[in-house]
Amino acid sequence: MKKATLIEYGVPIDADVMVHPPDTDEFQLEPGHPGLGDEAYIQRRRELFALCRKHRLENLGPPIIEYTPEETRIWREVSPKLDELHQKFACSMYLEAKQALNITREEIPQLRHLSERLQRETNMHLVPAEGALPYRIFYEYIAQRGFPVTQFIRHGSHPEFTPEPDMIHDCLGHVPPLMNQDYAELLTLIGKAVATATDGEHVLNLKRFSWFSIEFGLLEEHGEVKIFGAGILSSFGEIPYSVQSPEVRREPFVTDVVINTDYDPSRMQDHLFIAPSFVFLRRELEALVKRLGIPVL
Ligand SMILES: [Fe+2]
Repeated sequence: MKKATLIEYGVPIDADVMVHPPDTDEFQLEPGHPGLGDEAYIQRRRELFALCRKHRLENLGPPIIEYTPEETRIWREVSPKLDELHQKFACSMYLEAKQALNITREEIPQLRHLSERLQRETNMHLVPAEGALPYRIFYEYIAQRGFPVTQFIRHGSHPEFTPEPDMIHDCLGHVPPLMNQDYAELLTLIGKAVATATDGEHVLNLKRFSWFSIEFGLLEEHGEVKIFGAGILSSFGEIPYSVQSPEVRREPFVTDVVINTDYDPSRMQDHLFIAPSFVFLRRELEALVKRLGIPVL
C-alpha cells in the first residue's frame, strides 16, 4: 500500500491502518472497560472469545450460544428502550427488517438463525467475530458477503454503554439493514473496494463513506429525517441527538464532502449526512470506486 500521511479521527495515521487492530488469540479488555475487575465477566468473555475465534477461523458459522440469566437480563433492559426509540426515529426499511428477522425485546437472538434468514433474503451471512478484527480481515469478509458480528454482551453495570461494539450494537444496529438488497450491495462493494485498494488515501475515503452511511447515516423518508446508521441505532443518546439536537449539522449526502470530512468516534456525532435512498448511495459508491480507479466493478 502506498505510504501517505493521513488524518483519521484528527490523528495522523500511516498506511498500515489496514492491519489494526492486531489479530491475536489473546483476549484482553481495554483500559477503562467497566468489566475490568469482574472475574466472572472476564471468564465468560474469554470463553466466548475462544469459541467465536475457532468458529471464525474454521468457517463454522455462528455457534449457538446458551446465554446466561445475567446476559438475558441486560438484553431485556436495553432492547425495549432502544425499540421504543427505533419505532419513532428509525427508517421504515430497518423497522420492517427487524420484524421480519423476529428480533424481540425478550430473547437474545441466535446469530446462526439470523444468518440463515439473511442468506435466503439477500445472500448475506454473519461471521462470528471474537472482537474487533483487523480492518483488512474485516473488509475481506464483507467483500465475500459476510458481516462479522460479536456474540458477547456489554457489562451489566452500565447497560447503556459499551466501549467496544458488542452484540447489541451488531444485532440491533448492523444486522437488520442486511435484509435490504440495495444496502447489501452497497456494503459488499465497500468491502471489495477497501480490500482491493492499494492507496492509503483511497482507503480513508472509503472508510469515511462507510462511517457517514453504514455507521452514522440518515435517510430522507417522506419529507422526514430518519435513521439507518448502526452506530446511531444502537445508542440511546445518539438516536434523539442525531435527528433532534440543534447542535448537529445535518446536510445532504454529497460524496465529495463526505470523503473529505473527518470524524471523532469517541464523541457524539455532531455532523451527519442525509441520503435520499440506498439506491443513491449504491450509485454514488460505484461512481467513486470508478473515479478512484479501484478495479472491483
Ligand atoms: Fe459498527
